[in-house]
Amino acid sequence: MRGAGTFTGRAWRVAAKAALVVALAGSALAADAPSTRVPLPGVTAPAEGTCVEDTEFMRRNHMRLLVHQRDRTVHEGIRTEKHSLANCVSCHAGSKTGRVTGSKDAFCEGCHRYAAVKLDCFECHADRPAATASAAAPPAGGPK
Ligand code: HEC
Ligand code: HEC
Ligand code: HEC
Repeated sequence: MRGAGTFTGRAWRVAAKAALVVALAGSALAADAPSTRVPLPGVTAPAEGTCVEDTEFMRRNHMRLLVHQRDRTVHEGIRTEKHSLANCVSCHAGSKTGRVTGSKDAFCEGCHRYAAVKLDCFECHADRPAATASAAAPPAGGPK
């Protein structure tokens, strides 16, 4: 009898632990969508060409690339075409809308909505190729 009681107690703890793991995995999934095999909505990569880096790498690390790129440009005056935001936009703008934001099907914003990651870059930076030759129009009298 005592043995069975212990077993039940342990089984319950195991079950509770398993439930916790599932719950944690669920939240990790939401926070880190690109590292899963879950199909992502609204992400239609351009049919032509290849990304500036390996797709799997980009899925996980594009934010680091961009922030690194920004730091290098703004703080060190280094400019490279390859990892510039304008370059991303030129390839990833939607074929119909010509933009990377504005809808759930837009490349950057679509995935960001899904992943619930705020994307405020395009308050300053152009979200379409035409005007992106120079990344952000220097704000007249400071950022608006
Ligand atoms: C308040 C306005 C503002 C916001 C918001 C902003 N930027 Fe910028 N960013 C600028 C300005 C101004 C420059 C310098 C533009 C230049 O020198 O061509 C710049 C430069 C850059 C560059 C280097 C130039 C290029 O095209 O590669 C990158 C990369 C960049 N920003 C990325 C980002 C990312 C990513 C975000 C969002 C997390 C962001 N920026 C948000 C104003 C802004
Ligand atoms: C020369 C065109 C081109 C440029 C420039 C480019 N990309 Fe890509 N990108 C692609 C293509 C094509 C794919 C899909 C490749 C595939 O399906 O294997 C892709 C894939 C991606 C993915 C993964 C999407 C997914 O399916 O999960 C991300 C994120 C991404 N790019 C971000 C960026 C960022 C950020 C930049 C700028 C630093 C950039 N790309 C510049 C063409 C480009
Ligand atoms: C496949 C889905 C996907 C696509 C497509 C995508 N992103 Fe992201 N992005 C994410 C996720 C998820 C995060 C948060 C990852 C993390 O925090 O580790 C993120 C983070 C970022 C960050 C850092 C935000 C912050 O506040 O830390 C920037 C900047 C960014 N993305 C820019 C872009 C731009 C620009 C594009 C379009 C060229 C783009 N992303 C396309 C999924 C995506």
